[in-house]
Amino acid sequence: MKLLFAPLKGLTDAHFRSFYFKHFGGFDLAVAPFLLSSEDEALKAQREGTSLNVPLVPQLLGNSAEGLASFSRLLKDHGFSRFNLNLGCPAPVVIKKSKGAALLAEPDYLLSLLEDLCERSALPFSVKTRLGYNNIDELRPQLKKWRTLPIEELILHGRSARQVYKGEVHREEMIRCAQEWGKPIIYNGDVTTLKGYEEIVEEMGKLISGVMIGRGIFYNPFIAEEIRKGSSLPNEEKRERFIEFHRDIAGEMGTRPKSFARLKGLWSYFTHFARIPAEELAKLKRLDDPALFSKETEKWVIKTYPSRRTISSGRATSSRRSAPNSLGISRE
Ligand SMILES: Cc1cc2nc3c(=O)[nH]c(=O)nc-3n(C[C@H](O)[C@H](O)[C@H](O)COP(=O)(O)O)c2cc1C
Repeated sequence: MKLLFAPLKGLTDAHFRSFYFKHFGGFDLAVAPFLLSSEDEALKAQREGTSLNVPLVPQLLGNSAEGLASFSRLLKDHGFSRFNLNLGCPAPVVIKKSKGAALLAEPDYLLSLLEDLCERSALPFSVKTRLGYNNIDELRPQLKKWRTLPIEELILHGRSARQVYKGEVHREEMIRCAQEWGKPIIYNGDVTTLKGYEEIVEEMGKLISGVMIGRGIFYNPFIAEEIRKGSSLPNEEKRERFIEFHRDIAGEMGTRPKSFARLKGLWSYFTHFARIPAEELAKLKRLDDPALFSKETEKWVIKTYPSRRTISSGRATSSRRSAPNSLGISRE
């Protein structure tokens, strides 16, 4: 089963990925958040892609086959061998421009766009989409026609665009879509634990060839490694490795006000990993000293993943008493 690292605009950008893949493993492939059509971005993505230890697939967002095909030529010139087409973004600013998931509400136009793009694109492409725009039964009838096109792969998020990222992931409809597609799809939606992953694999069986993980990367940065291993990593390892990663990334992001704000943005998601209550996170986000912010967030990681050892100045050392875990139990 393939494991794909999801694109999350504003979160899993080139900077984040370079730190993430230095410290964590388990993924087979990363899809980058959507690019806007400029040569500069294509170049940047390419340079960074070659330095990662996982293949990087760029993602395009657009509503004209001509524009997308011309960008595909640019990507090819910069050494990419494929791209992903975003047909699932529900952000109002994207929908307003009739891009992303908005295209699902215009099946005839979308089909002609895909047909045209398949003919003109300089590179093969996969599609990342949702079950529909308004309702979850809108994609399935369209797949009947899409499946005759040379689309490399279908990555499917199990919600409508109206649901954004909330509410039920409609697995039954995903199963029906995969059956309609006639080839295994890539599952996407709410996989944040090893158990959750195992349930999906059990339920979807041969209908899927991979799972794409988004927010789960932040809820548990070790998720792909744990899936590969088939069991959780020890608390001690998690806390030490996360703190090393965090010192690395925060050390750099804390140096400029804009990047410090972005680090706080990452913590809106890492808060699930460190199990920080909402009111405590709000207090942390009011801190304006990056060093103090890092120290305080790390305290939560230490509390949540107790062990005999603590990290001091980036090196693991022994301590006499660990912080209490979430049940208030200290281990001697
Ligand atoms: C903040 C944020 C930014 C996102 N940016 C993109 C994007 O650039 N391209 C894309 O295809 N999906 C994007 N997504 C959707 C994710 O790739 C993924 O489909 C979604 O989070 C559901 O998967 P998950 O439940 O594993 O998180 C974004 C999601 C979030 C929350």
